[in-house]
Amino acid sequence: MRLLKDKIKTDGIVLNENVLKVDSFINHQMDPKLMKEIGKEFARLFKEEEITKVLTIESSGIAPAIMTGLEFDVPVIFARKRKSLTLTSDVYTAKVYSFTKQETNEITVSHKYIEEGDNVLIVDDFLANGQAAIGLAKMVEQAGANVSGIGILIEKSFQPGAEEIRKQGYRLESLARVKSLAGGKVQFVETKET
Ligand code: G4P
Ligand code: NA
Ligand code: NA
Repeated sequence: MRLLKDKIKTDGIVLNENVLKVDSFINHQMDPKLMKEIGKEFARLFKEEEITKVLTIESSGIAPAIMTGLEFDVPVIFARKRKSLTLTSDVYTAKVYSFTKQETNEITVSHKYIEEGDNVLIVDDFLANGQAAIGLAKMVEQAGANVSGIGILIEKSFQPGAEEIRKQGYRLESLARVKSLAGGKVQFVETKET
């Protein structure tokens, strides 16, 4: 997606060869117009899939997910990373290990919000090792629902997540695919642009 890649080029900061900082438009301050266009792009890419729910994980996935849900006119659910006071039983859970943070989070979604037969589009901001996206997919499957696809804003193609997700048979669409962050420079995988 040209707009997102341009924004990364102008406002993204390469912290080191593994980490791209996008605090000024995704991870802290957020760019609503960009999020709206991202929602439209996922709606275009997944239009044949009869999406009934959008699923993400708090916190940075919520903005693009809500815009995507708005385009499809379907509910948006975010998985919680901490146990909720009011959400104590009747939840799907998945253990998500973060290689980046070297910690495991147990993520949860209430049984109420994913039903058998749902066609669920998973949306998240970054794809690194793929553990968050795979955990979300496992919860969808626990519910007897269908993972219609995984939509990512920024895929770091040099890390294992993208390959792992495709190997597991999920449809993956990443709006910006970063080939390398070496030398303080963002290099994208060449793609036909939209
Ligand atoms: P994985 O799910 O793909 O295995 O990713 P990983 O555990 O490595 O990611 C842990 C956190 O770091 C996630 O955010 C993820 O979005 C973020 N992250 C991974 N790579 C980058 C990067 O290059 N740049 C930035 N800015 N973030 C990255 P989180 O802890 O779940 O936080 P939140 O932002 O969603 O609240
Ligand atoms: Na995220
Ligand atoms: Na994040």
